[in-house]
Amino acid sequence: MAYGKIPDSVIEAVLKHHDIVETVAKYVHLSKHGKYMKGLCPFHSEKTPSFTVTPEKGIFYCYGCGKGGNAIKFIEEIEEYSFPEAVRVMAEEAGIPIAWGGAPEGQRGDEGNGERDKLVQAHELAVKLYHYLLMNTTHGQPALQYLRSRGVTDKQIDQFSIGYAPPEWDTLARFLEKREFDPALMEKGGLLIGKQDRSGYIDRFRDRIMFPIWNRDGKPIALAGRMLGEGQPKYLNSPETMLFNKSRNLYNFHHARAAMRKNRRVVLFEGYMDIVKAWSAGVQNGVASMGTSLTEEHAAVLQRNADEAVICYDGDNAGQAAALKSIPILEKAGLKVQVAMLPKGMDPDEFIEANGANAFMREIIEHPVSATKFKLLYAKKNHILLEEEGQKNYLLEAVRIIAVLDSPTEREFYLKELSREFDMSLESLKQDCFNERQQLQKMKPQRDNNDNSWNNGRNENRENRRKSSAPPVLPAYQVAERKLLAQMLQSADTAGAVHRKLGEAFHVEDHAALAAYLYAYYAQGHDPDVSRFIASLQDDRLERTAASILMMDDDMPFDEQLLDDYVNEIVKVPKLREVEEKKEAMVRAERSGDMLKAAQIASEIIALERQLKGR
Ligand code: UTP
Ligand code: MN
Repeated sequence: MAYGKIPDSVIEAVLKHHDIVETVAKYVHLSKHGKYMKGLCPFHSEKTPSFTVTPEKGIFYCYGCGKGGNAIKFIEEIEEYSFPEAVRVMAEEAGIPIAWGGAPEGQRGDEGNGERDKLVQAHELAVKLYHYLLMNTTHGQPALQYLRSRGVTDKQIDQFSIGYAPPEWDTLARFLEKREFDPALMEKGGLLIGKQDRSGYIDRFRDRIMFPIWNRDGKPIALAGRMLGEGQPKYLNSPETMLFNKSRNLYNFHHARAAMRKNRRVVLFEGYMDIVKAWSAGVQNGVASMGTSLTEEHAAVLQRNADEAVICYDGDNAGQAAALKSIPILEKAGLKVQVAMLPKGMDPDEFIEANGANAFMREIIEHPVSATKFKLLYAKKNHILLEEEGQKNYLLEAVRIIAVLDSPTEREFYLKELSREFDMSLESLKQDCFNERQQLQKMKPQRDNNDNSWNNGRNENRENRRKSSAPPVLPAYQVAERKLLAQMLQSADTAGAVHRKLGEAFHVEDHAALAAYLYAYYAQGHDPDVSRFIASLQDDRLERTAASILMMDDDMPFDEQLLDDYVNEIVKVPKLREVEEKKEAMVRAERSGDMLKAAQIASEIIALERQLKGR
């Protein structure tokens, strides 16, 4: 089977060296349950563990979201690597020589990725060109002056590869053309724009300060251009392309990742400039979503690298409203959320300029408030507290905010604070809070363990609820197919017997494919090795199906009789279907008054059913 350029022996060595439990345990807390280990799934949010690891078989599987596979697959999923990338990283870690294919770093796996690679190359060149023009030419002087006037140092300009796109129409277009990049592809990638009359191409970015946007490997995949001074639009961003996905990519993620993973904490900013400034102030775990609000996909990426998120958005109304919106998204992904608040109307960049890096770290970043506290402060602004009515309304709203907290201690903590602040009795606040919780219970749809969205902002994400993870009830023949495959995966003899009796006549397409691959796998002389077999599949869906089959409780002793029963269950499916069809035909005949035909079909049905029983 094809692994691209990676030899079988490397994959084997990687799997041998990376024990599934050890590999997973670096990301998931696992506890032992009989033959397997259990934990909270890192790929979807849940409160009760449906993520399992079977050491004996070398695989993981989540009943909640269906992800599953071997150790390589796990690293692929959790680190968002491609298969060759995951193998490479794991091989490097294990000290396994990785000289396959001879492709240098950055050009691996380039079959089929030609366009993407070309586009990344074009971005790399554009970034270099713009940076050069900023730093070394008179064209770049006003932009450089502007950056310096805003307190951006040369070191920061280098670190973030900031550049300048000159005002001419076709600086980049000509530059890329000379290097024989396909302009149509460059347009698709967002660097150039085709002229209306189709007579050629012009640059997308002109007379702007350029911020490269990188993917998680540090490759530039998009650009953002800021005007020098005021005007609209202030920033022009690359459009969504085959490389750049705004709801997934985060600005500065690749720089921030190491620090994020180290202290399990991420700081969220709104703007490019905030990231640049905060970096030198000491915040090296900062990221920003670009021109969109934070999405669940962003949150999922962050959750894999951190346990806590600190939101540090602008101190204006828009910034605070955005913070309020981001809180439930981050919480739902499983992050503990805090908010670092800036003085009214200031953004992080302005605060650092005005008060210095030390003050920013000490007063803002190191003193965030809890998400609840932030919600209380935010609600407070909407009420006129000098008036009785305003006070009452605020108190009621505050109680509603507190009531969603799961922990009684936390609820009491905030209620006490309210009681002190407004000189109210704790008892009455507690009573209101209790009533509110009862209301919430009633509004809550039937309890689903994998769903914690109800306590994060009651209007959020109803549509995004996860389905209950109870497995669907499968028809008997499908169960039989799965049971057979489970045995075949673990025994070459069983696979041989099924091959003879059934061949590839599985009815579920994926089952037929798995069977075919298994026959081939054993035919090549391999011994049963589930994790290795899965590695050879190179197909997401099949890998998941294989993992889910292996995770069935299969403690039933298996013998030839059972094998035959399962095979029969499968081979009789076409006959069963035929019976169904005949029954329908009989009803049709009866309706049209053709009693003779109906009687004839009836006898055919009886014959078929007799055959079915006889087997
Ligand atoms: P801001 O308006 O706060 O800009 O927008 P900023 O990053 O602080 O930049 P300076 O300090 O004015 O130079 C926050 C973010 O919103 C997106 C950008 O990602 C920006 O960093 N944005 C803003 C756009 O995409 N387009 C715009 O026109 C404005
Ligand atoms: Mn700003």
